[in-house]
Amino acid sequence: MWRIAIAFLLFGSLCAVDRQNFKTCQQSGFCKRHREISKPTGYEVISDSIKVNDTGLTALIKNKETTLTISIVSLKDSTVRVVIDENEGALRKRYQPLDALTEKEPAQTKFKKSKLEEGSTKLLTGDGNRIVLQHNPFRVDFYVKDKIVSSINSKETLHFEAFKKKVLLTDREKGFWEETFKDIKDTKPHGSSSVGVDIAFVGAKNLFGIPEHAEGYSLRDTRTYEPYRLYNLDVFEYELNSPMALYGSIPYLVGVHQKRSVGALWLNAAETWVDVESTTADKGNLAKEVLDANTKPREVPQSNARFYSESGLIDVFITLGPQPNDIFRQLAALTGVTPLPPAFALGYHQSRWNYKNQKDVKEVHEGFVKNDIPLDVLWLDIEHTDQKAYFTFDKTEFANPEDMIKDLAEKNRKLVTIVDPHIKKDAKYYIYKEAKKNKYLVKDAKGENYEGNCWPGDSTYIDFLNPKARQWWSEQFSFEKYKQTTNDVHIWNDMNEPSVFNGPEITMHKDAKHHDGFEHRDVHNVYGFFQHSATFNGLKARSENKVRPFVLSRSFFAGSQRTAAVWTGDNKADWGHLKQSIPMLLSLSTAGLPFVGADVGGFFGNPEEDLLVRWYQAGAFQPFFRGHSHQDTKRREPWLFADNTTDAIRNAIKTRYAFFPYWYTLFYEHSKTGKPVMRPFWLEFVEDESSWDEDRQWMVGSGLLVKPVLEADSKELSIYLPGKRQVWYDWETHKARPSPGAVQIPVGLNTIGLYHRGGTIIPKLSEVQLTTKDNHEKPIVLYIAVNQKGDHANGTIYLDDGESYAYENGDYAYWGFTFKKEHDYLHTITNKNLDKKGKFDSDVFIEKIVIRGAKFYPRNAHIFLDDFSPEDLEFEFNRDNFIMEIANPGAFVTREFRIDIHS
Ligand code: GLC
Repeated sequence: MWRIAIAFLLFGSLCAVDRQNFKTCQQSGFCKRHREISKPTGYEVISDSIKVNDTGLTALIKNKETTLTISIVSLKDSTVRVVIDENEGALRKRYQPLDALTEKEPAQTKFKKSKLEEGSTKLLTGDGNRIVLQHNPFRVDFYVKDKIVSSINSKETLHFEAFKKKVLLTDREKGFWEETFKDIKDTKPHGSSSVGVDIAFVGAKNLFGIPEHAEGYSLRDTRTYEPYRLYNLDVFEYELNSPMALYGSIPYLVGVHQKRSVGALWLNAAETWVDVESTTADKGNLAKEVLDANTKPREVPQSNARFYSESGLIDVFITLGPQPNDIFRQLAALTGVTPLPPAFALGYHQSRWNYKNQKDVKEVHEGFVKNDIPLDVLWLDIEHTDQKAYFTFDKTEFANPEDMIKDLAEKNRKLVTIVDPHIKKDAKYYIYKEAKKNKYLVKDAKGENYEGNCWPGDSTYIDFLNPKARQWWSEQFSFEKYKQTTNDVHIWNDMNEPSVFNGPEITMHKDAKHHDGFEHRDVHNVYGFFQHSATFNGLKARSENKVRPFVLSRSFFAGSQRTAAVWTGDNKADWGHLKQSIPMLLSLSTAGLPFVGADVGGFFGNPEEDLLVRWYQAGAFQPFFRGHSHQDTKRREPWLFADNTTDAIRNAIKTRYAFFPYWYTLFYEHSKTGKPVMRPFWLEFVEDESSWDEDRQWMVGSGLLVKPVLEADSKELSIYLPGKRQVWYDWETHKARPSPGAVQIPVGLNTIGLYHRGGTIIPKLSEVQLTTKDNHEKPIVLYIAVNQKGDHANGTIYLDDGESYAYENGDYAYWGFTFKKEHDYLHTITNKNLDKKGKFDSDVFIEKIVIRGAKFYPRNAHIFLDDFSPEDLEFEFNRDNFIMEIANPGAFVTREFRIDIHS
């Protein structure tokens, strides 16, 4: 028995990722050097170099070998930036991925006070936070309301490899000046220039963030484990529960605390590794700061994150919260938000590698109509092109793309085509010719056009670091250039890590050269970011800034949310991957990238029907909802299965569409507040520590808790209801439950664990049509979940045309709904225009109001509209489970009303 199990395990792992292709920390010269540092690196501040002005401090810090400059500046909204660079006379300029930021030079704010003391310099920010620069050993401490919350270099691991002149290679120096991995040499013409330091999160038991890894949501202690790696890679059949690098990187994490959460953005685009350690502050170097004379010794949790990057600067932004909402707003101020997506992008997307030809496309999208399943977008993978030359269509299989697009558009559907960054090396291919002529291609170490192998065979790569190349790329999406496309065509950027099949670790050589003299090693993690942002800009420009673009990217960096949605790449049709998608999407959401999803059904392999159904149910409550699969898999359009499977998939997709008004509102609110749409529990229930690391359940907005079925043959689903003194209502049965608490519900094929949080109001469509456009302006049902005290609930709705930028000029409506107990005998429901700048007058009316937790006995109800003469309303009341339903109240979402319920 055991033997079989072991053989199975071995076989299982043989089938998965080929680990040999990817470096461990030990195999990466700089990572190894940093990780081996065991003694304090001995940096101290040179006291008489300290200069303080209104908004910042600069100083020199040095140890035995190196002198560095440090600058500390205060930014708006409790954010502090710390930059450590080489002192004057550096041999080379270091790359900073400033395009990741919304403002290349974030505005500085004034300090309230600064004080130079013996041994430390104290700065008081305008927001009342305190920064203390400790001189010896060098350290930067951050205080919120007199409590230390974070510290840079408290473990004295600061290590900075300054550029130096090449010396004769001793064995010890070898990794410094060249490195070979799997027979591919990295020539390192400039030697090594790595940087690293530790950041402490005092009081934080958990750290979250630094996507992308197929790992649990709460970051694990890496002392006996590999560090988390951030290096955008195309990993074939990635492994679960592994800190190995994947397709994208956001070097941002947050330390969560009940009262004082802190975020840290490590703005560096080079290969980066992150060690995580969970410890206690009262015994470490910060003991003095956490235990003052009056406090008894006690345990103060602390989490440390130690970042090492192969090149670039130490450029750290500390966001001082203190509440979870603040953390998201502060991150959004730095790296931006996802602008309101076009409505269709929130619908269901059907993809496959590949829909073979126009006939296939037609049959598939008509199949959705025939089978009464909503669909907004049909996707075309690489085979639709003329021999993998992007921006073209295969001349026989897709001979009339215009007809195909028109046919889709007539049903209110869109097309997405794939456009990768590798360019087929073919003297007859116009994109290649132009890029070559204009010198827009990445160069190799010798200065020739860099060549690698990808889908088309021999390929070259656009140098997206060059602003002119980006501009040119954007222009390729114009209708004159990208022939036979229309505004109904949107774009998928894949393989943009970039993937190079014959390159080191399946990516580009680090000594390849980019614009402005930078090496690929300096810019690697931001390459895909530049591609998808140029694509987005191109799509926007082709419509003269009238139509909101949709771009999906596989690679990403901090700031990617401004121009792309992302998905988790090539997952597998198994239960483990379905489960893994949740923490992966939560980590992305935590790092500021909200429009995320995983291939529904799994990319590789053939899901059994049970798994496929469960995946649709989970995907229906994740922001980006697309079915996609590998070319070797069996076809999986939803109607190719047993009837009950098709029915359950239809149900799941229809449920997604029914919640559309809520999703759309949440995306709008994200664009204003930075809060993600798919939310970890700590954002909503910071008071409930036990729920913070939850990675089987999540919140959609603040009102809806989701727990999909994640196991085969489940008979029962157990759901944790987070928070303190909250009430939750089962979405289907309305049954109320207190929190914190757990509940078991029986599982049927259509079961999705859905709980409505007391105190919130959710708008939902009463009926769904087959596309988001067909649902536009359709009536809604208001679900009111009364709070635990029984006196209140509120919610919002956002409406606009769903596709243009007219909302930027006031063509939108943002309204709120409130349920309130006025006194023992009167409850009211009102709506209110929350933003008077919004002028969109819609005809959306409320078809029904459902009140859950109506703990009163209504005698009569009437509505007041503009004319102040009340009209009687009919209602039903269920005494057993306190449900009140008002059908056809005659109210419009964007016209003021008041409903009085007398009891
Ligand atoms: C990559 C993508 C996958 C796509 C395939 C062919 O593997 O991750 O989604 O289908 O390339 O383009």
